[in-house]
Amino acid sequence: ARLVVLVSGAGTNLQALLDACAEDSYGARVAAAGADRDGTGGLARAERAGVPTFVHRLDQFATRADWDAALAGTVAAFEPDLIVLAGFMKLVGRDFLAAHGGRVVNTHPALCPAFPGTDGPGDALAYGVKVTGATLFVVDDGVDTGPIVAQVPVPVLDEDDPATLHERIKVAERQMLVETVGRMAREGFTITDRKVRFG
Ligand code: GRF
Repeated sequence: ARLVVLVSGAGTNLQALLDACAEDSYGARVAAAGADRDGTGGLARAERAGVPTFVHRLDQFATRADWDAALAGTVAAFEPDLIVLAGFMKLVGRDFLAAHGGRVVNTHPALCPAFPGTDGPGDALAYGVKVTGATLFVVDDGVDTGPIVAQVPVPVLDEDDPATLHERIKVAERQMLVETVGRMAREGFTITDRKVRFG
């Protein structure tokens, strides 16, 4: 299966997927990696792996809708079977979902529906939960609201700050992402009434 992975930051989730794809038995390859900004660690990781990369910055387009349509087209050109938003800090819009909806998954560092948005770990810590985690879901037109494919629990420790908690979440998140994306790629999946089934 062909994956296109979109990133905005360090790209350690992308790196985990690149490492997994190096094994033929995984059944997927990263056809391209894209970002919404220049100079991300994620795109450097893709380049080191010899994976084509692209950048679409909002400020390169007259409107957000133009950015969204351009991103949809660039991604489509790589003919992805599955698109993985791995730390991509932009909301994809109507054109992107019209073109790719149902084949876009996003990993979020909290147990959806809890703590959506840009700071799941910080929000979980501020709320005082004892368990948080990571969620892989199929992207819909909401913010971190799509059908859940997999989740992994992660304990919150008394001495945690947002950074230490997020790092602990990311260890579990990367493993969940690699295992789940691999199954989706090898077995396929269907969604019925928000339930995602493999096969
Ligand atoms: C991940 O925890 C992702 O869920 C969140 O930002 C982090 C990205 O980490 N949105 P990386 O860029 O994959 O290292």
